[in-house]
Amino acid sequence: MRSLALVAALVSLSNAAWAAEGVKIGFITTQSGPTAALGTELLDGFNLAIKHNGGKLGGVPVEIIVGDDQGKPDVARQLAEKMIDHDGVSIISGPVHSNIMLAVAPVILKANVFLVSVSAGPSQLAGKQCNPYFFVASWQNDTAPEAMGEYLQNKGVQGVYLISSNYPAGRDMLTGFKRYYKGGIVDEVYTPFGQLDYAAEIAKIRAAKPSAVFAFYSGGMAVNFTKQYAEAGLMKEIPLYGPVFSLDQTVFPGVGDAALGAYVSTFWAETLKNPTNDAFVAEFRSAYGRIPSEYAATAYDTANLLNAALAEVKGNVSDKQAFGKAIETAKFDSVRGTFKLGPNHFPIQDFYLAQAEKDAKGQMVLEVRERIMKDHQDAYAGQCEMK
Ligand code: PHB
Repeated sequence: MRSLALVAALVSLSNAAWAAEGVKIGFITTQSGPTAALGTELLDGFNLAIKHNGGKLGGVPVEIIVGDDQGKPDVARQLAEKMIDHDGVSIISGPVHSNIMLAVAPVILKANVFLVSVSAGPSQLAGKQCNPYFFVASWQNDTAPEAMGEYLQNKGVQGVYLISSNYPAGRDMLTGFKRYYKGGIVDEVYTPFGQLDYAAEIAKIRAAKPSAVFAFYSGGMAVNFTKQYAEAGLMKEIPLYGPVFSLDQTVFPGVGDAALGAYVSTFWAETLKNPTNDAFVAEFRSAYGRIPSEYAATAYDTANLLNAALAEVKGNVSDKQAFGKAIETAKFDSVRGTFKLGPNHFPIQDFYLAQAEKDAKGQMVLEVRERIMKDHQDAYAGQCEMK
């Protein structure tokens, strides 16, 4: 009895020590190059949730150590090493991009540091290479395109032209689309990551005369592709579809009215109706003076997921098994409404069709039209044997 009481006293002492010391979280994001706006959205969403929780997560102070990966895997790897060896972080969050994630994950997971993605959800880490220390609170890359594949398949559209950036997320996105769309692929084209002039590709699309185009681009690439597609006069002739990333609040300011009426598939939209999302969008607008994108939304959710998990272990992340379990089972109010993690630690979530239109204030928003898929799980979860 005495020894049990002693253990209990020590546990409570060590919890108190953790609570006082707080938790260090490394945040690797892209703050330069054509996708810098995405990195800002992620950081702003993450910080907003911390502010909302009084500067704490799970009742303990958190210190966020931010690193700009500049979109370069080598830089990201060095940042991860520094955050682990020098800063002593217990959790690393970020990054925007899947090629960066694939570069940093081995370093972080080998050190038994928790890696919680706010954005990148590469297929490689969703199946056989799933890991007890790895969590994705955003999306698996294939899934939003799967929803659009399903939608266009059901609509009976025949002959779609696929185009995307040539890197891991781009390849996952088109793979996802093809998994559900069986109406014939006119062509599948990959352009170098960072390319900003699409004149040659758009000329080829025009010549191929597909019924529709499905494109995955993000940030500055999405702005330029969409703008140039519209300027070529193709918007009306050959409808342009994409996952939300191709046409969201990071893209609208650059394309203007050219995007009006276009459709995307998404797990979240600024107009998605639920009390948590209404409050988040209002809070984000008042803090930053702009409408949040899906990146800010998933980062906000990620911080709230960590908030619930840290509360469960009272801020003590030293018992890694207990903290891992706490992330797996964390319950929080998601801006997405329903949200849960599957057995591979990737989200199971609903997907919607949304359309670009102007709201009452004349600002471009994604208006939710219908739900395409309910509780959708990625195609790789079955290959994951969580060890
Ligand atoms: C990714 O690289 O995983 C990625 C980046 C931007 C997106 C979507 C996926 O919009």
